[in-house]
Amino acid sequence: MAEEITTTDEWRALAAHAEKLRDAHLRDLFAADPDRGERLAGELADLHVDYSKNLVTDETLTLLAALARRARLTDRIAAMFAGEHINTTEDRAVLHTALRAPAGAALTVDGRDVVADVHAVLDRMAAFADRVRSGEWVGHTGERIRTVVNIGIGGSDLGPVMAYEALKAYRDAGITCRFVSNIDPTDIAEATADLDPASTLFVVVSKTFSTQETLANARQARDWLLAGLGGDASAVARHFVAVSTNEQRVRDFGIDPANMFGFWDWVGGRYSLPSAVGLSVMLAVGPARFRELLAGYHAVDEHFRTTPVERNVPALLGLLNVWYTNFLGAQTHAVLPYSQYLHRFPAYLQQLTMESNGKSVTLDGTRVSYDTGEIFWGEPGTNGQHAFYQLIHQGTRLVPADFIGFSRPRHDLGDMHDLFMSNFFAQTAALAFGRTREQVEAEGTPAELAEHKVMPGNHPTTSIVAAELTPAVLGQLIALYEHIVFTEGAIWDINPFDQWGVELGKVMANQLAPLLTGGDADLSGLDSSTRALIARYRAQRHA
Ligand code: F6P
Repeated sequence: MAEEITTTDEWRALAAHAEKLRDAHLRDLFAADPDRGERLAGELADLHVDYSKNLVTDETLTLLAALARRARLTDRIAAMFAGEHINTTEDRAVLHTALRAPAGAALTVDGRDVVADVHAVLDRMAAFADRVRSGEWVGHTGERIRTVVNIGIGGSDLGPVMAYEALKAYRDAGITCRFVSNIDPTDIAEATADLDPASTLFVVVSKTFSTQETLANARQARDWLLAGLGGDASAVARHFVAVSTNEQRVRDFGIDPANMFGFWDWVGGRYSLPSAVGLSVMLAVGPARFRELLAGYHAVDEHFRTTPVERNVPALLGLLNVWYTNFLGAQTHAVLPYSQYLHRFPAYLQQLTMESNGKSVTLDGTRVSYDTGEIFWGEPGTNGQHAFYQLIHQGTRLVPADFIGFSRPRHDLGDMHDLFMSNFFAQTAALAFGRTREQVEAEGTPAELAEHKVMPGNHPTTSIVAAELTPAVLGQLIALYEHIVFTEGAIWDINPFDQWGVELGKVMANQLAPLLTGGDADLSGLDSSTRALIARYRAQRHA
């Protein structure tokens, strides 16, 4: 059995240090160290990452780096990049980093040149995207494609929709994308309601091509298309392409493998945006922009692979998250993009972080005795300020928060962007430094209100800023969080690359489905709550 991380001297040293730091306040840490804001910051490709407003001292960072060494973080990083089967429960390599390696980079895994495979698919995607974007690829009736509907769920949806929204300003071929994920029939019905089948292309994305939601939506889409185009089944070939690892299932569904873009079992769903899963994004912004996105990812991959832990930005941020989770008792982590384009980024990160690190056994199957997996959540600023920031400022919980912002807006309208970003800077400062009782009283606040207006401060934030939200910067941001997740997983000694926990619900839904559709099927084998709920549902459904 592997050594449990909590039994190490490095862990104990951090626990003791946390006790010592209990009364420290960011006000004092900044007052005692005039350069703190510039010193506790790092450059990560085009990102400037300021972690000075975290509840740490230099000693904390030294102790966290020691913990990383004890957990063999560097060796684990090397093993991932080398294509070792670090996804032990599925016996797979974990090589999303190969998806963004430049052409010609050498990486042979299980006997295959994976970088050559990656670029062969990228080139096919680019050729297809160029044909669709130029109008050379037309639909069944000869009309050019105007709308792409991406059908997928989880990693086959959240990455594409997040990136499409983030890069909307880069759309340049008159192609609009929509995203259908939910098996709630409302989703596909609303998404197709005002579309013309003659100019619509469906991209069915599923790693396994066996996901209930995606197949049900794809079948529905096919029926809708054929109904709209006169029922000629040959129309499917002009209006459906697939992205999957499973060619046989794509064929069984009725999509020609010539219209399929593949990827590999060593790409986890939540890490798959830079694979063919990003096809809808490429169709919207073009192959060149998509390659810039990949180059952005790669720059951060290289930093993570080669930089010593003390200066390794994703590693440091991952270690800070461990610090808050395991030593300061935080349960959640807010991510607050000050960019409307990033409005789906928190949702995307929820799958990336929580499906990865929501685990409670170590790699060798031992139950952990410590917390893992932070609960990620968030909304774009400034909207969140008028909703939940109150709790972060004056509530009782510790909520570390990442603020993400940009100096140059895509739409420079009057002074709006400056007003927008003044909120970013004001919030991070207010959270850190608060407002003391003395300050509140000096403003003339009546004594009975004073305590209500005190802002305790000492709320940790990390500021991640870049000049502009470009495709490359988006790639950098995503890779940053991927490697934060990896670092946490390494310290917690868990497998961030499987997701057995979501299986049980899927199996049970398949078992229960016939009880819902088959009107009078016997419910007696069910627990009393589920039985009563289904009986009520059936009565109302068929009333
Ligand atoms: O339900 C979890 C999950 O397996 C995710 O990990 C994955 O991204 C999603 O379902 C969709 O899977 P697929 O791409 O195989 O349809």
